[in-house]
Amino acid sequence: MEFKLSEEHLAVREAAKDFAETRLLEGVIERDNNRVHPTEQVKEMGALGFMGIMTSPQYGGSGMDTLSYALAIEEIAKIDASAAVIMSAHNSLCLWAIEAYGTEEQKHKYLSPLAKGLALGCFCLSEPEAGSDATMQRTTAIDKGDHYLLNGVKNWITNGGQSEYQLVIAQTDPEKKHRGINALIIEKNWQGVTIGPKEDKLGIRSSDTHAINYTDVKVPKANRLGADGFGFKLAMQILEGGRIGIAAQALGIAAGAYERSVAYAQERKAFGKPIAEHQAIAFKLADMAVDIEAARMLVYRAAFLKDQKQDYGYASAMAKLKASEVAMKHTIEAVQIHGGNGYVKEYHVERMMRDAKITQIYEGTSEIHKIILARNILKGELALPL
Ligand code: CAA
Repeated sequence: MEFKLSEEHLAVREAAKDFAETRLLEGVIERDNNRVHPTEQVKEMGALGFMGIMTSPQYGGSGMDTLSYALAIEEIAKIDASAAVIMSAHNSLCLWAIEAYGTEEQKHKYLSPLAKGLALGCFCLSEPEAGSDATMQRTTAIDKGDHYLLNGVKNWITNGGQSEYQLVIAQTDPEKKHRGINALIIEKNWQGVTIGPKEDKLGIRSSDTHAINYTDVKVPKANRLGADGFGFKLAMQILEGGRIGIAAQALGIAAGAYERSVAYAQERKAFGKPIAEHQAIAFKLADMAVDIEAARMLVYRAAFLKDQKQDYGYASAMAKLKASEVAMKHTIEAVQIHGGNGYVKEYHVERMMRDAKITQIYEGTSEIHKIILARNILKGELALPL
């Protein structure tokens, strides 16, 4: 067993770190305050190859593996968790599915501009009444022969306002329940597509979250992704991979708050010495280090299993559950270590604490992950494979 990153992995991590520190740090507080999407920076992420990081070069992507993706997301999330989720949702929830199940025509028309960073993508699964229970799709895609007629509303869509292309999950045949669900590629400018107002969120405020309404949208049959009725299974597969990205985002938030806490605790003095030399604070730093390292191993292993083409659903659920809990717990501790300074925006950790919360909610709540894990455990999977 070798706990060592390759030269390529170290290089991508360095590139992401450098980009985050030079291009995302400046203005991160203002973007969060004012809910400003980092449009210029996302374009630059496209030029760096991050917006098609796992997509094959044949379609304009960087052709890197899932571990590279996780490393890049982690570094970006250390500085700006909103930029991290923009990249994560785009790559995992939209591009991955088109590359895995798209026709050549779909790949050339949609995947290529998405992977080159010329267009943004989103995944529209959640609805007002279909969040954790994703089978309860009310959005309908009625089969009209050569096209589907799409009607309904999707909620809490990451990249919702900015995405040129949307991957929409909808019910075609309610009698078949989840086996009657389809996945369709929709263009933002089509008639009948209306983007709702931008959500005013607790955290990840500069990522763009909207409801999207569909009213009698004519979707050519050629825009269905995968076989008829495959939409629900496709959505579940998308989420399995997406959870690695969100786990890496949570890990980055936790690690960013930890690094800031270590630096602050060495600078800030109380009772005649740096607060890091008081056990009350030193113990907190030690607990943070252990938990973050444990989460990191789970995240990297889930990515590794995906890259090895082994089952990774159990591993990605475990990584996302652990990393999101670590992010929440230790961003609260980071605020505590910073004392009064932690409660003001200038020191960044209050934003990280707000950003951490969503990682326990999206792409499956912590409770959904426990359901997935418990099912695997009862099937006899007591530990992850080595
Ligand atoms: N891969 C492929 N197929 C799968 C699957 C997987 N991982 N998990 C389930 N399925 C299939 C099953 O095989 C079954 O198919 P058959 O009946 O044909 O055999 C079908 O799906 C239904 O399976 P279950 O009965 O197990 O499904 P369930 O409804 O009981 O529960 C669940 C499954 C794991 C709880 C699932 O509903 C789930 O993951 N829910 C969470 C949804 C979610 O994460 N929502 C967040 C929205 S996306 C988001 O947040 C995006 C963003 O903007 C950042």
